[in-house]
Amino acid sequence: MEATIRKALGDPLFRRIGAIADRRGVQAYAIGGYVRDTFLLRPCTDIDIVVVGGGTGGGIAVAEELGREVRSRVNVFRNFGTAMLRVGEWEVEFVGARRESYRADSRKPIVEDGTMEDDQRRRDFTINAMAFGLNGDNFGELVDPFGGMEDMEAQLIRTPLDPDTTFSDDPLRMVRAIRFATQLDFRIEPETFAAIRRNRERIGIISRERIATEVEKIMRSPRPSKGWRLFDESGLLELIFPQLARLKGVETVRGRGHKDNFLHTLKVLDNIVPRTDHLWLRWAALLHDIGKPRTKAWDDRAGWTFHGHEVVGSKMIPAIFREQKLPMDERMKYVQKLVFLHLRPIILSEDEVTDSAVRRLLFEAGDDIDELMTLCEADITSGNDAKVRRYLANFALVRRKLKEIEEKDHIRNFQPPITGEIIMETYGLPPCRAVGVIKEGIKNAILDGEIPNEYEAAYALMERLAAAEGLAPCRRDEQ
Ligand code: CTP
Repeated sequence: MEATIRKALGDPLFRRIGAIADRRGVQAYAIGGYVRDTFLLRPCTDIDIVVVGGGTGGGIAVAEELGREVRSRVNVFRNFGTAMLRVGEWEVEFVGARRESYRADSRKPIVEDGTMEDDQRRRDFTINAMAFGLNGDNFGELVDPFGGMEDMEAQLIRTPLDPDTTFSDDPLRMVRAIRFATQLDFRIEPETFAAIRRNRERIGIISRERIATEVEKIMRSPRPSKGWRLFDESGLLELIFPQLARLKGVETVRGRGHKDNFLHTLKVLDNIVPRTDHLWLRWAALLHDIGKPRTKAWDDRAGWTFHGHEVVGSKMIPAIFREQKLPMDERMKYVQKLVFLHLRPIILSEDEVTDSAVRRLLFEAGDDIDELMTLCEADITSGNDAKVRRYLANFALVRRKLKEIEEKDHIRNFQPPITGEIIMETYGLPPCRAVGVIKEGIKNAILDGEIPNEYEAAYALMERLAAAEGLAPCRRDEQ
């Protein structure tokens, strides 16, 4: 362990901070994520430093002195008693040790000067409350009054104080407990978990932005389903993501049930993780069946159906993104498009894989076609191996065909060679129905392989279609 600590504090920066603290007659500690990640062997460039003594401004004073020594600009947040600066690759944040108490209706703490232990006891989890001494007389000493190291070894998320206090101090910590359990694949200690269930309603006072930051870390984890399952088991899911909670459960009519769409969704999400780091493709996996509860119907002949769930689901995406404080830009549009198209490759592979169906899929998916295929492959969660193999083989065929047709016809991002403007100009028309009919006719003929994707052929077809509409080209001088 000593060797690990020595390595973690090997950069001269740590000795420098200790020397400043010694000169000022205060104590400095590295604390929190940096200490935790040292033992987890995770890279970490954010360092939190707590300064004991010198009042609540003690951290700021040490930061300013360090800033002068290393010639780096210090950002001071006097209201919070914190200061931040960059030193080489490090982002270092200083704070004075504090004793915090909170009022029940707000998460703004009342802050007073405190001891090191006061500071540690007010942190979220034991594994985040460990510190390294940086002064001359305790450099590299592990200060761990709440058994963080033991919990680290037992892979446990536990609060330093009784969990009701820790969570009511800052209810976001309930979400953070689930985030750390997912990210690190740790367990949440049962008392701590019971307190999340008890205090879950308090999440209502936390801003959606702060929750979103934690949810993103869950989505980037090696097994994000764990986080969503824990949200469900703790009762938080209903509060922070009701649309997902509605996917849960199985209904049975005349002995026929449908699959539990929540469990299916989590499988799809875990399936896609090893295939992609793309955050928004992971979101598409999480949301691909989000429209199912609204479209569920029982039919005496067909059994359970979810007709049009991809359309309903894609329409739900903007409101979900707005609520979850996810970006309302092309990333939202991307998820929406993938949800909308997620059934297409399956339907295509169930029929005969015709060139024309493949061209249409390419046309609609454009550059997102490979990711759409990845989503569809992840969507196969049947327990029946033969079925899985059949689907995957069909998808392989679809992928081969996609490649062939793309090479031949360049349909991806294709714009029909005859535009609406050309049609309007040629026949002296304002925007009207006939223009739409001709344009659509040309597009379909190209996608169906009736004419090549070329100007001459498309122009000739325009002439035939226009004649059928009773249109004659106008002469140049008439225009
Ligand atoms: N902390 C806390 N309660 C919070 C947020 C943070 O007690 N709601 C404390 C913890 O000691 C934590 C430290 O502040 O270790 C730094 O928080 P943050 O930078 O948000 O997280 P890290 O623990 O550094 O983890 P990560 O880098 O994975 O976000």
